[in-house]
Amino acid sequence: MKFKKPLDLLLKEAAETGSGTLKRTLSSFNLVTMGIGAIIGAGLFSLTGLAAANNAGPAVTISFVIGAIGCAFAGLCYAEFASMIPIAGSAYTYSYATMGEFIAWIIGWDLVLEYALGAATVSISWSQYLTKFLHFFNWEIPPQFTKSPWEDITLSNGTIVHGIMNLPAVFIIVCLSLLLIRGTRESAFINNFLVILKVAVVLVFIAVGWGYINPANHVPYIPANTGKFGEFGWSGVLRGAGVVFFAFIGFDAVSTAAQEAKDPKRGMPIGIIGSLVVCTILYVLFSHVMTGMANYKEFKESAAPVAVAIAKTPFAWLQKAIIIAILAGYSSVILVMLMGQSRIFFTMSKDGLIPKAFSKVHKKFQTPYKSNLLFAVFVSLFAAFVPVRVVGEMVSIGTLFAFILVCIGIMVLRKSDPDSPRPFRTPWVPFVPIAGVLICLLMMVSLPLDTWIRLVVWMAIGLVIYFTYSKKHSLIRKGTVYLPKDPLKPEL
Ligand code: ALA
Repeated sequence: MKFKKPLDLLLKEAAETGSGTLKRTLSSFNLVTMGIGAIIGAGLFSLTGLAAANNAGPAVTISFVIGAIGCAFAGLCYAEFASMIPIAGSAYTYSYATMGEFIAWIIGWDLVLEYALGAATVSISWSQYLTKFLHFFNWEIPPQFTKSPWEDITLSNGTIVHGIMNLPAVFIIVCLSLLLIRGTRESAFINNFLVILKVAVVLVFIAVGWGYINPANHVPYIPANTGKFGEFGWSGVLRGAGVVFFAFIGFDAVSTAAQEAKDPKRGMPIGIIGSLVVCTILYVLFSHVMTGMANYKEFKESAAPVAVAIAKTPFAWLQKAIIIAILAGYSSVILVMLMGQSRIFFTMSKDGLIPKAFSKVHKKFQTPYKSNLLFAVFVSLFAAFVPVRVVGEMVSIGTLFAFILVCIGIMVLRKSDPDSPRPFRTPWVPFVPIAGVLICLLMMVSLPLDTWIRLVVWMAIGLVIYFTYSKKHSLIRKGTVYLPKDPLKPEL
């Protein structure tokens, strides 16, 4: 028998949560800026260089377009769910209502890859930019403490140093986790400010860098394949799409604000698709300029390619200004990801699928502090000891998998609950969800085998936990369902 969370129960939960605490204050514009705030981060400022150097060359621009199309299809499916089931938990909750508890567990477990490892990836990139920034003031962190044990650093005198751990990455994760525990939230003002700052950085980079494009760097636009799948040529462009796909992650964060949207019917599609469109245009222009300023080979193994590109200009001040803005912008992405992770585990814990500790709310700060603490440790371990490529690709594969399940969920729900009110309907069903599944699958397939093995191992660990713990503790199975009053108020 399939255990599903009834749709009317979810809607009741949504209504109850909404009555006391959450107000419908977000306009479509706010939702677009929120999306852009969560989207622009390490994917653009770090992985673009790696994808250009290792996979696509200057054609990383085409990789961005492929990634955007896959996201747009999945985004339309998210918009239908988010307007229909406006409650925390995002894809996990949607699948609990449509495909049953087992798939919901899979997706909830899989989302750890998106959110927790997403935070780890951005923190590693943050560390690289911090190192660059301190360098301007001749302040050096010992290089072995800026890389994972799997990486080497070649110093300016040619000495090779082995990494021990990435300390700055751990630092930012711990600081932001503590901030989350204190309950500090980005106000709309701060969020808008960070978004303006980030977008300004991108625009300044495009405007200034355009004049320094060396057309020779764009020839050939798609470098010839080396004979290996994924190394340049069209297969490289495709694998590049799988890598830079990370840069689009975050638009689903808009769906978590469905309950606070003034008009979810209009706001959800505008917020999700609008932020995707704006970011795609910026990404294509940005990567075109970046691979024009420096040869794509120069970005190899550099997690701070913007610095490599700007070094080609005479504007030393631009380096500092842009790096400060990037550091600030990254912090907001990490914060949103860590928060998203704790909210998903909060919901799973309330459903009984993981221990109660994850939904334990701090009496004073009213935040899920145990969850925050655990993820501070978990995310720090990845940030400290794993190279950026490995975590970045794990995030991409995990998120693509989640998007596929969301696209399938839309088709299932159209059959199982055809009459439930849908404030926003995904157009051209089943074409859009099927196309979403196929494009996401294509990007998944293009990711390296080691990333697939890691996904399988992670999901296998999840299955063991599900069958040994979650199934036995599931409240839906026990028949005692949870009706929240206010998820972030302490329980008596
Ligand atoms: N899209 C976000 C980033 O690139 C996760 O940092």
